[in-house]
Amino acid sequence: MTQVQGLSAAGDSRTATSLPEAPAGGGFPQGFLWGAATSAYQVEGSPLADGAGPSIWHRFTHTPGRVLTGETGDVACDHYRRTAEDLALMREIGLTAYRFSVSWSRILPEGSGAVNSRGLDHYDAWVDQLLGAGITPMLTLYHWDLPAALDDRGGWRNPDVAQWFADYATVLYRRLADRVPLWATLNEPWVVVDAGYVHGVHAPGQRCPFAAARAALNLLRAHGAAVQAGRAAGCHALGLVVNLEPKYPASQGEEDRAAARRADAYWNRQFLDPVLLGQIPEELPALYGEAWPPWTPAELELIRTPVDFIGVNYYTRGVVRHDPTAFPDRAARVKVEGALYTEMDWEVFPAGLEEVLVWLSQRYGRPALYITENGAAFADPPPTPAGVVEDPQRVEFLRQHLRAARSAIARGVDLRGYFVWSLLDNFEWSLGTSRRFGLVHVDFSNQRRTLKTSATYYRQIILSNGAALDGE
Ligand code: FCB
Repeated sequence: MTQVQGLSAAGDSRTATSLPEAPAGGGFPQGFLWGAATSAYQVEGSPLADGAGPSIWHRFTHTPGRVLTGETGDVACDHYRRTAEDLALMREIGLTAYRFSVSWSRILPEGSGAVNSRGLDHYDAWVDQLLGAGITPMLTLYHWDLPAALDDRGGWRNPDVAQWFADYATVLYRRLADRVPLWATLNEPWVVVDAGYVHGVHAPGQRCPFAAARAALNLLRAHGAAVQAGRAAGCHALGLVVNLEPKYPASQGEEDRAAARRADAYWNRQFLDPVLLGQIPEELPALYGEAWPPWTPAELELIRTPVDFIGVNYYTRGVVRHDPTAFPDRAARVKVEGALYTEMDWEVFPAGLEEVLVWLSQRYGRPALYITENGAAFADPPPTPAGVVEDPQRVEFLRQHLRAARSAIARGVDLRGYFVWSLLDNFEWSLGTSRRFGLVHVDFSNQRRTLKTSATYYRQIILSNGAALDGE
């Protein structure tokens, strides 16, 4: 969606559908899921425990110079061994849902072939613990930690990855489909491509346009194959999680406006158009240039396998200018003077959340949506001796974004849940533990957890099913 072409508010005349009336009261629907999210490598630690194989993130963090702080995920939040303690925190906050990811190489240490039953048992027990606490699990099959053994075979560049992924997913479906109602295939394929294969700042650390274009196609094929396998295995609901940012031109000049359109195609439509419309965004092949691999009609058919929901991860908007050196979209982010920025250097822009939800709903025929990640890194103070962590900026961030979500519902968006990123301060990829997103403060020197003020605020929101948003 960009502010130039009118794909957002005005709608795309080819695909727009009119939205139904807002629900009575304009609040959150009954049964709305109030959750928090994490991912395996960022919280678990013990990456090789119980027979697990190494992942590409294990390899990456153990390569000098890859992580800003020099840290690895060997311990992270030690969540693999502290599930009971963390479940108690989740109950204290009052979460009704929890989004977590499974580490593929705990289940299949070599990525394919022999199943490691101890890895499977771990997640099986975790799902039971969640359900026992009345917390609905949303399971992400892939949150970036590809088995290293598969990277040795080409990783996301190898077309066989679609079958590897579907086979891995099937192992989990067979074991957990009776208890896990919500399955997300991939987390943010855009980041996998852009950070992992274009800029090399994430595992597997490649900088190759050809690899990136192949990876984008194979991620989509893997998604489609996993949805088909999930359907066959009787999964209740299957979806894809994407990160979206409305794109704004830095100026009204034609070059910047064209850059915003390209950035929109690359970020927002690259994965959603093929999955939900069975189309490749028209700008996309030209962006990748000679690196673009032809997609066969059969591949598009696989990719467009119907899904039950889309998960939206929303953090900020993108204000961009024309930059001929930026691959592939020739667009570069600019800072907005006077705006509030988080520790990630991301602008706080709550209106963008409503905008992306309404855009997605209108463009793609009103799919069921979850906000699968939303949150902010701020420089939180350490806990006081009395065990208090005041994080007023995060409280305000949550309030404003939840109000934006509520406005989207009032405009007819079928939004069914909201997951804060993140439950815990955790291992923020190549930035190590230097960025804190948690509702819960973690002291990484001793693993002590302390609820932040934002956690108690979120509890009030949950208990009132959103009504507390109207307080001051
Ligand atoms: C998202 C990732 C998540 C976390 C947040 C801050 O892109 O899905 O793992 O890193 O950003």
